Amino acid sequence: MNSNYSAPPGMSDIMPAEMASWHKIEDLARSLFPLYGFSEARTPLLEYLEVFSHGLGTETDVVQKEMYKLVDRGGRTLALRPEGTAGMIRALSETDISPVNEKRVYYIGPMFRGERPAAGRRRQFHQVGVENAGRVHPELDAECILMLMDFVSRAGIEGHSLLVNTRSNREDRKPAEEFLKKHFADKLPSLCEDCRARFEKNIWRILDCKNPECAKLISDLPDLISYFGAPSREYFEKVCILLEKLKVPFKVDPRLVRGLDYYEHTVFELTHPGLGGQNAIAGGGRYRLVPPGTNKEIPGIGFAAGLERLIMSMKGEELAKPAPIDAYIVPLCQDAVEKCLVIADELRKSGFGAVSECECKSMKSALRGANRISAKFAVILGENELAKSEVLCKNMSDGSQSGVSLVNICQHIKEQLKGSA
Ligand code: HAM
Repeated sequence: MNSNYSAPPGMSDIMPAEMASWHKIEDLARSLFPLYGFSEARTPLLEYLEVFSHGLGTETDVVQKEMYKLVDRGGRTLALRPEGTAGMIRALSETDISPVNEKRVYYIGPMFRGERPAAGRRRQFHQVGVENAGRVHPELDAECILMLMDFVSRAGIEGHSLLVNTRSNREDRKPAEEFLKKHFADKLPSLCEDCRARFEKNIWRILDCKNPECAKLISDLPDLISYFGAPSREYFEKVCILLEKLKVPFKVDPRLVRGLDYYEHTVFELTHPGLGGQNAIAGGGRYRLVPPGTNKEIPGIGFAAGLERLIMSMKGEELAKPAPIDAYIVPLCQDAVEKCLVIADELRKSGFGAVSECECKSMKSALRGANRISAKFAVILGENELAKSEVLCKNMSDGSQSGVSLVNICQHIKEQLKGSA
């Protein structure tokens, strides 16, 4: 039922039926990333606004249009995190991070962007992300991309495409920037209003514009890699050679700039055709960040994948179902109600999942209840059973049933489960 107090637009409830697939992906991240030397870290959902405006770039859409801000009681402006990298690097800058002390961290959690909601575009969404911070080596870039591909393929996702490009380092970017200025100078009237502002403030953002008129002008651009300095071109060549060596299929997309300003050198995006307009499952790249209030310049490489989009890309058989409960303990008479609680407690102490019913039922509704919660066994306790210190234990998958002494229930269920395994 919809009411005026449903979850806000673009923010979804994730209910138990879907949760098993979320856990599957999260468990995969927690088991796979440590194999690459990464450990989990968690940063606050709220950071001081400058962590994002300074880190992501004041001219990015995320900072300009999409941040949720609030002023705290001390008058300082905080923002809900729109992504994980800037906050994580802020946190790492408070440690002993250095080129000889690189940090490999991963994170899982909600992010917030006030975008127009659409299929696959939420205002609260969830990312699984990694950051390898402290050092600059093409090997680290290639391995980070390999890790993303490994993650997605172990999740059972198929049919995706990997696009890579270089943004060059900031020092090597000037000639390309000058070329872009010349290229767009006489096309300003055809650009959208946002891009006319980007022309003045940060011309690279034009390449990220989704407006169809601007997209046409962007597609006329030559390959910008040839305008970058030699060190940046060589760095990118090395990343591509390493990806080939690692047998990672990819395509170079010279238009890929990504929507955040902290990137330099390698950038990449993983798309899936099944997702429609919002087709990026994951994105990432190399960056250099100076958390506000510090003079620590921290280089890193990382990616983030959208959990909602990962789950949308999974085929039916890859989606997980909630685990069934082992036993549903049902009283058929009032005197058996308390005993059912005790039996459930004993079963749980022996490692079984057990739910006890607190109202007495008819035999028919006891079995219906067991089916409703997908219990493997219905453990039924009526007057006859109470008199004999027994339960009636019904195996819900094959319909077989037998009277089992109260002291033997755990053993009986254990044997039956072994027999059906
Ligand atoms: P991003 O490309 O902005 O990169 O986001 C990464 C992924 O988050 C996207 O590919 C998409 O799957 C998901 N995502 C983003 N926005 C939404 C949304 N509104 N609704 C649903 N899913 C969304 C970053 O966030 C960078 N911090 C990645 C990174 C890590 N770069 C270096 N390290």
